[in-house]
Amino acid sequence: MIKIDKSGCKPFADEKRFNEYMNKALAGFDTLEGGKGAGNDFLGWNHLPGTITQDVLDGYKEVVERWQAMNIDTVVVIGIGGSYLGAKAAIHALSHNFLPGKGMQILFAGNSLSEDYMAELMDVIENKNTACVVISKSGTTTEPAVAFRIVKQYIEQKYGLKEAAKRIVAVTDRSRGALKSLATAQGYTSFVIEDNIGGRYSVLTPVGLLAIALAGYDIDAMVRGAQEAEKVCGERSEDNPAIQYAALRNMFYDAGYKTEILVNYNPRLLYVSEWWKQLYGESEGKDGKGIFPASVTNTTDLHSMGQYIQEGERTLFETVLHITNCRREMRIPFDKDNLDSLNYLAGKRVEECNEGAMKATIMAHIDGGVPQIKIDVERVDEFNLGWLFYFFEKACGISGYVLGVNPFNQPGVEAYKKNMFALLGKPGYEELAAQLKGRM
Ligand code: PA5
Repeated sequence: MIKIDKSGCKPFADEKRFNEYMNKALAGFDTLEGGKGAGNDFLGWNHLPGTITQDVLDGYKEVVERWQAMNIDTVVVIGIGGSYLGAKAAIHALSHNFLPGKGMQILFAGNSLSEDYMAELMDVIENKNTACVVISKSGTTTEPAVAFRIVKQYIEQKYGLKEAAKRIVAVTDRSRGALKSLATAQGYTSFVIEDNIGGRYSVLTPVGLLAIALAGYDIDAMVRGAQEAEKVCGERSEDNPAIQYAALRNMFYDAGYKTEILVNYNPRLLYVSEWWKQLYGESEGKDGKGIFPASVTNTTDLHSMGQYIQEGERTLFETVLHITNCRREMRIPFDKDNLDSLNYLAGKRVEECNEGAMKATIMAHIDGGVPQIKIDVERVDEFNLGWLFYFFEKACGISGYVLGVNPFNQPGVEAYKKNMFALLGKPGYEELAAQLKGRM
């Protein structure tokens, strides 16, 4: 369960203005729920959690059990953007900061075209018992396709063609795309990404859940969290946190606060921020509009970005993800010599200092002219992550409609792809290649 605390917004906007934006967000909610807005053929995520049955989850667990029986210890999960960030966010948030996790080791690939990254990944899997999950909705994205060609060839050479087919799972379209054809031809186990769910809204489909299950985490609990969020965020009510969040961020945007910084005080949430940036950036940044989504991890970044946030250009607002219960307890010891003068903290939990830093920062940033939305999250576990994922998706759909854009397309992503295909010599792009080379 999460709760929005808007006390840090009050110095910047009165109740009348907030109510005005609540009405806009309620209208955005109606557009979303009525299925009448732009991009309404991509609403498959909206009522997804309630439809996820035990059979669906058992389908992912069958892969886990099959690979456990084969003693697979390492899984290369290939995908980019929405086909990677959800699983990465969840696994990073749930894992020990230093030690290996309880399930298979997940190595992400295909999320860049870095040769060093790919070569080093191959170094790591050399002595491992490896399997691969390749995820691409379109089945044609270059980055994952390149990584998959390399990993597939490696697995086939090491284990033989027949065995390789048991070690590769594809997550892709039901019937279209190169990956679908390849999976059918090679007899890979496949899971479908439904047509009406865009990549950045797909964490609660096999795109996210399969890798999370392979890493050893409880996907049943994650789905239960998302199901509860679906109920709470489905209420047409002023208490609905998704409506509140959509209202607040649009209120600040219209008042000239063009950048939203998602703030956390727990490095576990680093990739939750990356996932959130993609969700909001790709959903809202279009038609010359949109809040620029940025993120910081504090207190680390108070020593790098803190100066700018406190005193730089006044176009920022912050959304603080506040985890109310951490997982472990660690107290600061008493030291009889007190040479570091730290005995005033002796006996306190480290998290008490972290909370103190958060409260101090929120107040300093309010004084510095940076509005503060706070989202209280009970703890970082599967249930609450499922809640948070769904909440942010719902708020994003509503917020996009308040902003007046189609929150479910991403036409701008194609521009670089065309240029890249042309420069890399893909057949059919010769004319563009000549133009671009002329500009170099
Ligand atoms: O959110 C999106 O739609 C994108 O980020 C896609 O997920 C990303 O481009 C990868 O696409 P695909 O799954 O088709 O390979």
